Amino acid sequence: MATNKRILILNGPNLNMLGVREPDIYGSTTLEEIEKTVRATATKLGLELTFQQTNLEGELVSWIQNARSQTDIIVINAGAFSHTSIAILDALKLLEIPIIELHLSNIFAREEFRHNSYISKCATGVICGFGAAGYNLALEAAAQIFSEQD
Ligand code: DQA
Repeated sequence: MATNKRILILNGPNLNMLGVREPDIYGSTTLEEIEKTVRATATKLGLELTFQQTNLEGELVSWIQNARSQTDIIVINAGAFSHTSIAILDALKLLEIPIIELHLSNIFAREEFRHNSYISKCATGVICGFGAAGYNLALEAAAQIFSEQD
């Protein structure tokens, strides 16, 4: 089992509105509730968790840049920026750590404009379509990657 590994989970725009935002698509679980569940899973898996959300593209870019020295793996749900932001892709390309792209919804089963994700171009793997449970799946994936590194 992985120990003392650091995992950074970044959430982009409108994810602070989970629970009230299009619940038919994103479910009724709030981001706070997701964080609570994920923290419990991180403790179980021996992972040190940082969990952040911002509505600002530049802030996400800065957090990704800082991650260079501060984390061993990154999980990112960049929300709509996934489909638009070359700046976030460029920042992620600075990282020499595994990148897990995450979406609650199955972006491939939705509107055409959601089918392209810039983040996928540099992601180690993608988890999408499992709702809030995807966050825990991302942690499991991280633990698996760490166990393969050891
Ligand atoms: C999302 C999917 C994106 O297309 C959308 O813009 C979001 C949330 C998801 O988690 O399913 O904000 O990233």
